[in-house]
Amino acid sequence: MSPRTLTGSGESPGRIALADLYAPIATELADAERIFQEELASQFPFVQHLVDHCADFQGKRLRPALVLLSGQACGRLTPAHSVIAAVVEMIHTATLVHDDILDEAMVRRHAATVNAEWGNETAVLLGDYLFTHAFHLAASLESTRACRWIGHATNKVCEGEMQQVHHRGNLDLDEASYFTIVEGKTAELTAVSCRLGASYAGASEPRAEAMDRYGRELGIAFQIADDVLDLWGDERVTGKSLGTDLEKQKLTLPLIYLLQLASPADAAEIRRILEQGQAESRKQLQPLLESTGAIERAWQCAKHHVKQALESLDGLADSNARDILRILAQYVVKRSS
Ligand code: IPE
Ligand code: IPE
Ligand code: MG
Ligand code: MG
Repeated sequence: MSPRTLTGSGESPGRIALADLYAPIATELADAERIFQEELASQFPFVQHLVDHCADFQGKRLRPALVLLSGQACGRLTPAHSVIAAVVEMIHTATLVHDDILDEAMVRRHAATVNAEWGNETAVLLGDYLFTHAFHLAASLESTRACRWIGHATNKVCEGEMQQVHHRGNLDLDEASYFTIVEGKTAELTAVSCRLGASYAGASEPRAEAMDRYGRELGIAFQIADDVLDLWGDERVTGKSLGTDLEKQKLTLPLIYLLQLASPADAAEIRRILEQGQAESRKQLQPLLESTGAIERAWQCAKHHVKQALESLDGLADSNARDILRILAQYVVKRSS
């Protein structure tokens, strides 16, 4: 992928190493990792093998990091933060395991997807196992707040995914409907991660609300970048199957802009390509995405949401965690994986 694509013209890709950003929360992240694995442990070797697969092939751990950094930025971390961090990662992993069935994806986190390796039946059940353990674990906390809020957010994630399935093949999907889907399927979980981190650190309701907004805006920007990567990324770098939005005829923001900006003749040809539902049509669409300015416009939109996320942090006192949250917001649109 050309670096220009995700970072906008004239800007350097500015590689950001997540491990460095996570250094101040390394202990709590390790605790969350241990809790994650202990909660999911099974007496049955096959189930344990599946759990080990999830633990061995880790992603970016963005949502646990948001819980912990939001907590640090708003007050003090407590043991509950590590539990919540494990819970949100479990929910996220469950959604990925199920999403890969829907997308018929073969690769995730540089490994075979659960559906590719063990089949759809196992993947459905492993996703269920992750969801039920997430709520079992959340219910171990003294207060029911986390369990309730995460339950609410997960309901919204499922609604977002269902709306997306409902709109498959709808080439007239408008921007507003796209954002409704993204706010559900992606931004709800990043928002509740930040809200919970803040709330369990003793933040006031307005502060927790501002952190929720930060997470929501960051989540939207994150998904727009992901949708650009689906069209433009390199599978060796992302470590996951790409082009699946095209294959499953999910109209994402760059494609919505492409249809708006193309000439009538090009738009008709683009519709014909999209109707074929093929991952390989990425190559055909890329020159048009660039020449019409559709990619650039999607990028500008992602940047706008990053700006909104940053503004939500304005009332926070100076801290290392707040500075890292700022960098994370910028990272989501600079990432290439
Ligand atoms: C992928 O999320 C799903 C989206 C919301 C786009 P991540 O990119 O955070 O996945 P991992 O956890 O790093 O694998
Ligand atoms: C999935 O969106 C978001 C979820 C909440 C599961 P995508 O389908 O774009 O995620 P990837 O690209 O497969 O990671
Ligand atoms: Mg997918
Ligand atoms: Mg995607």
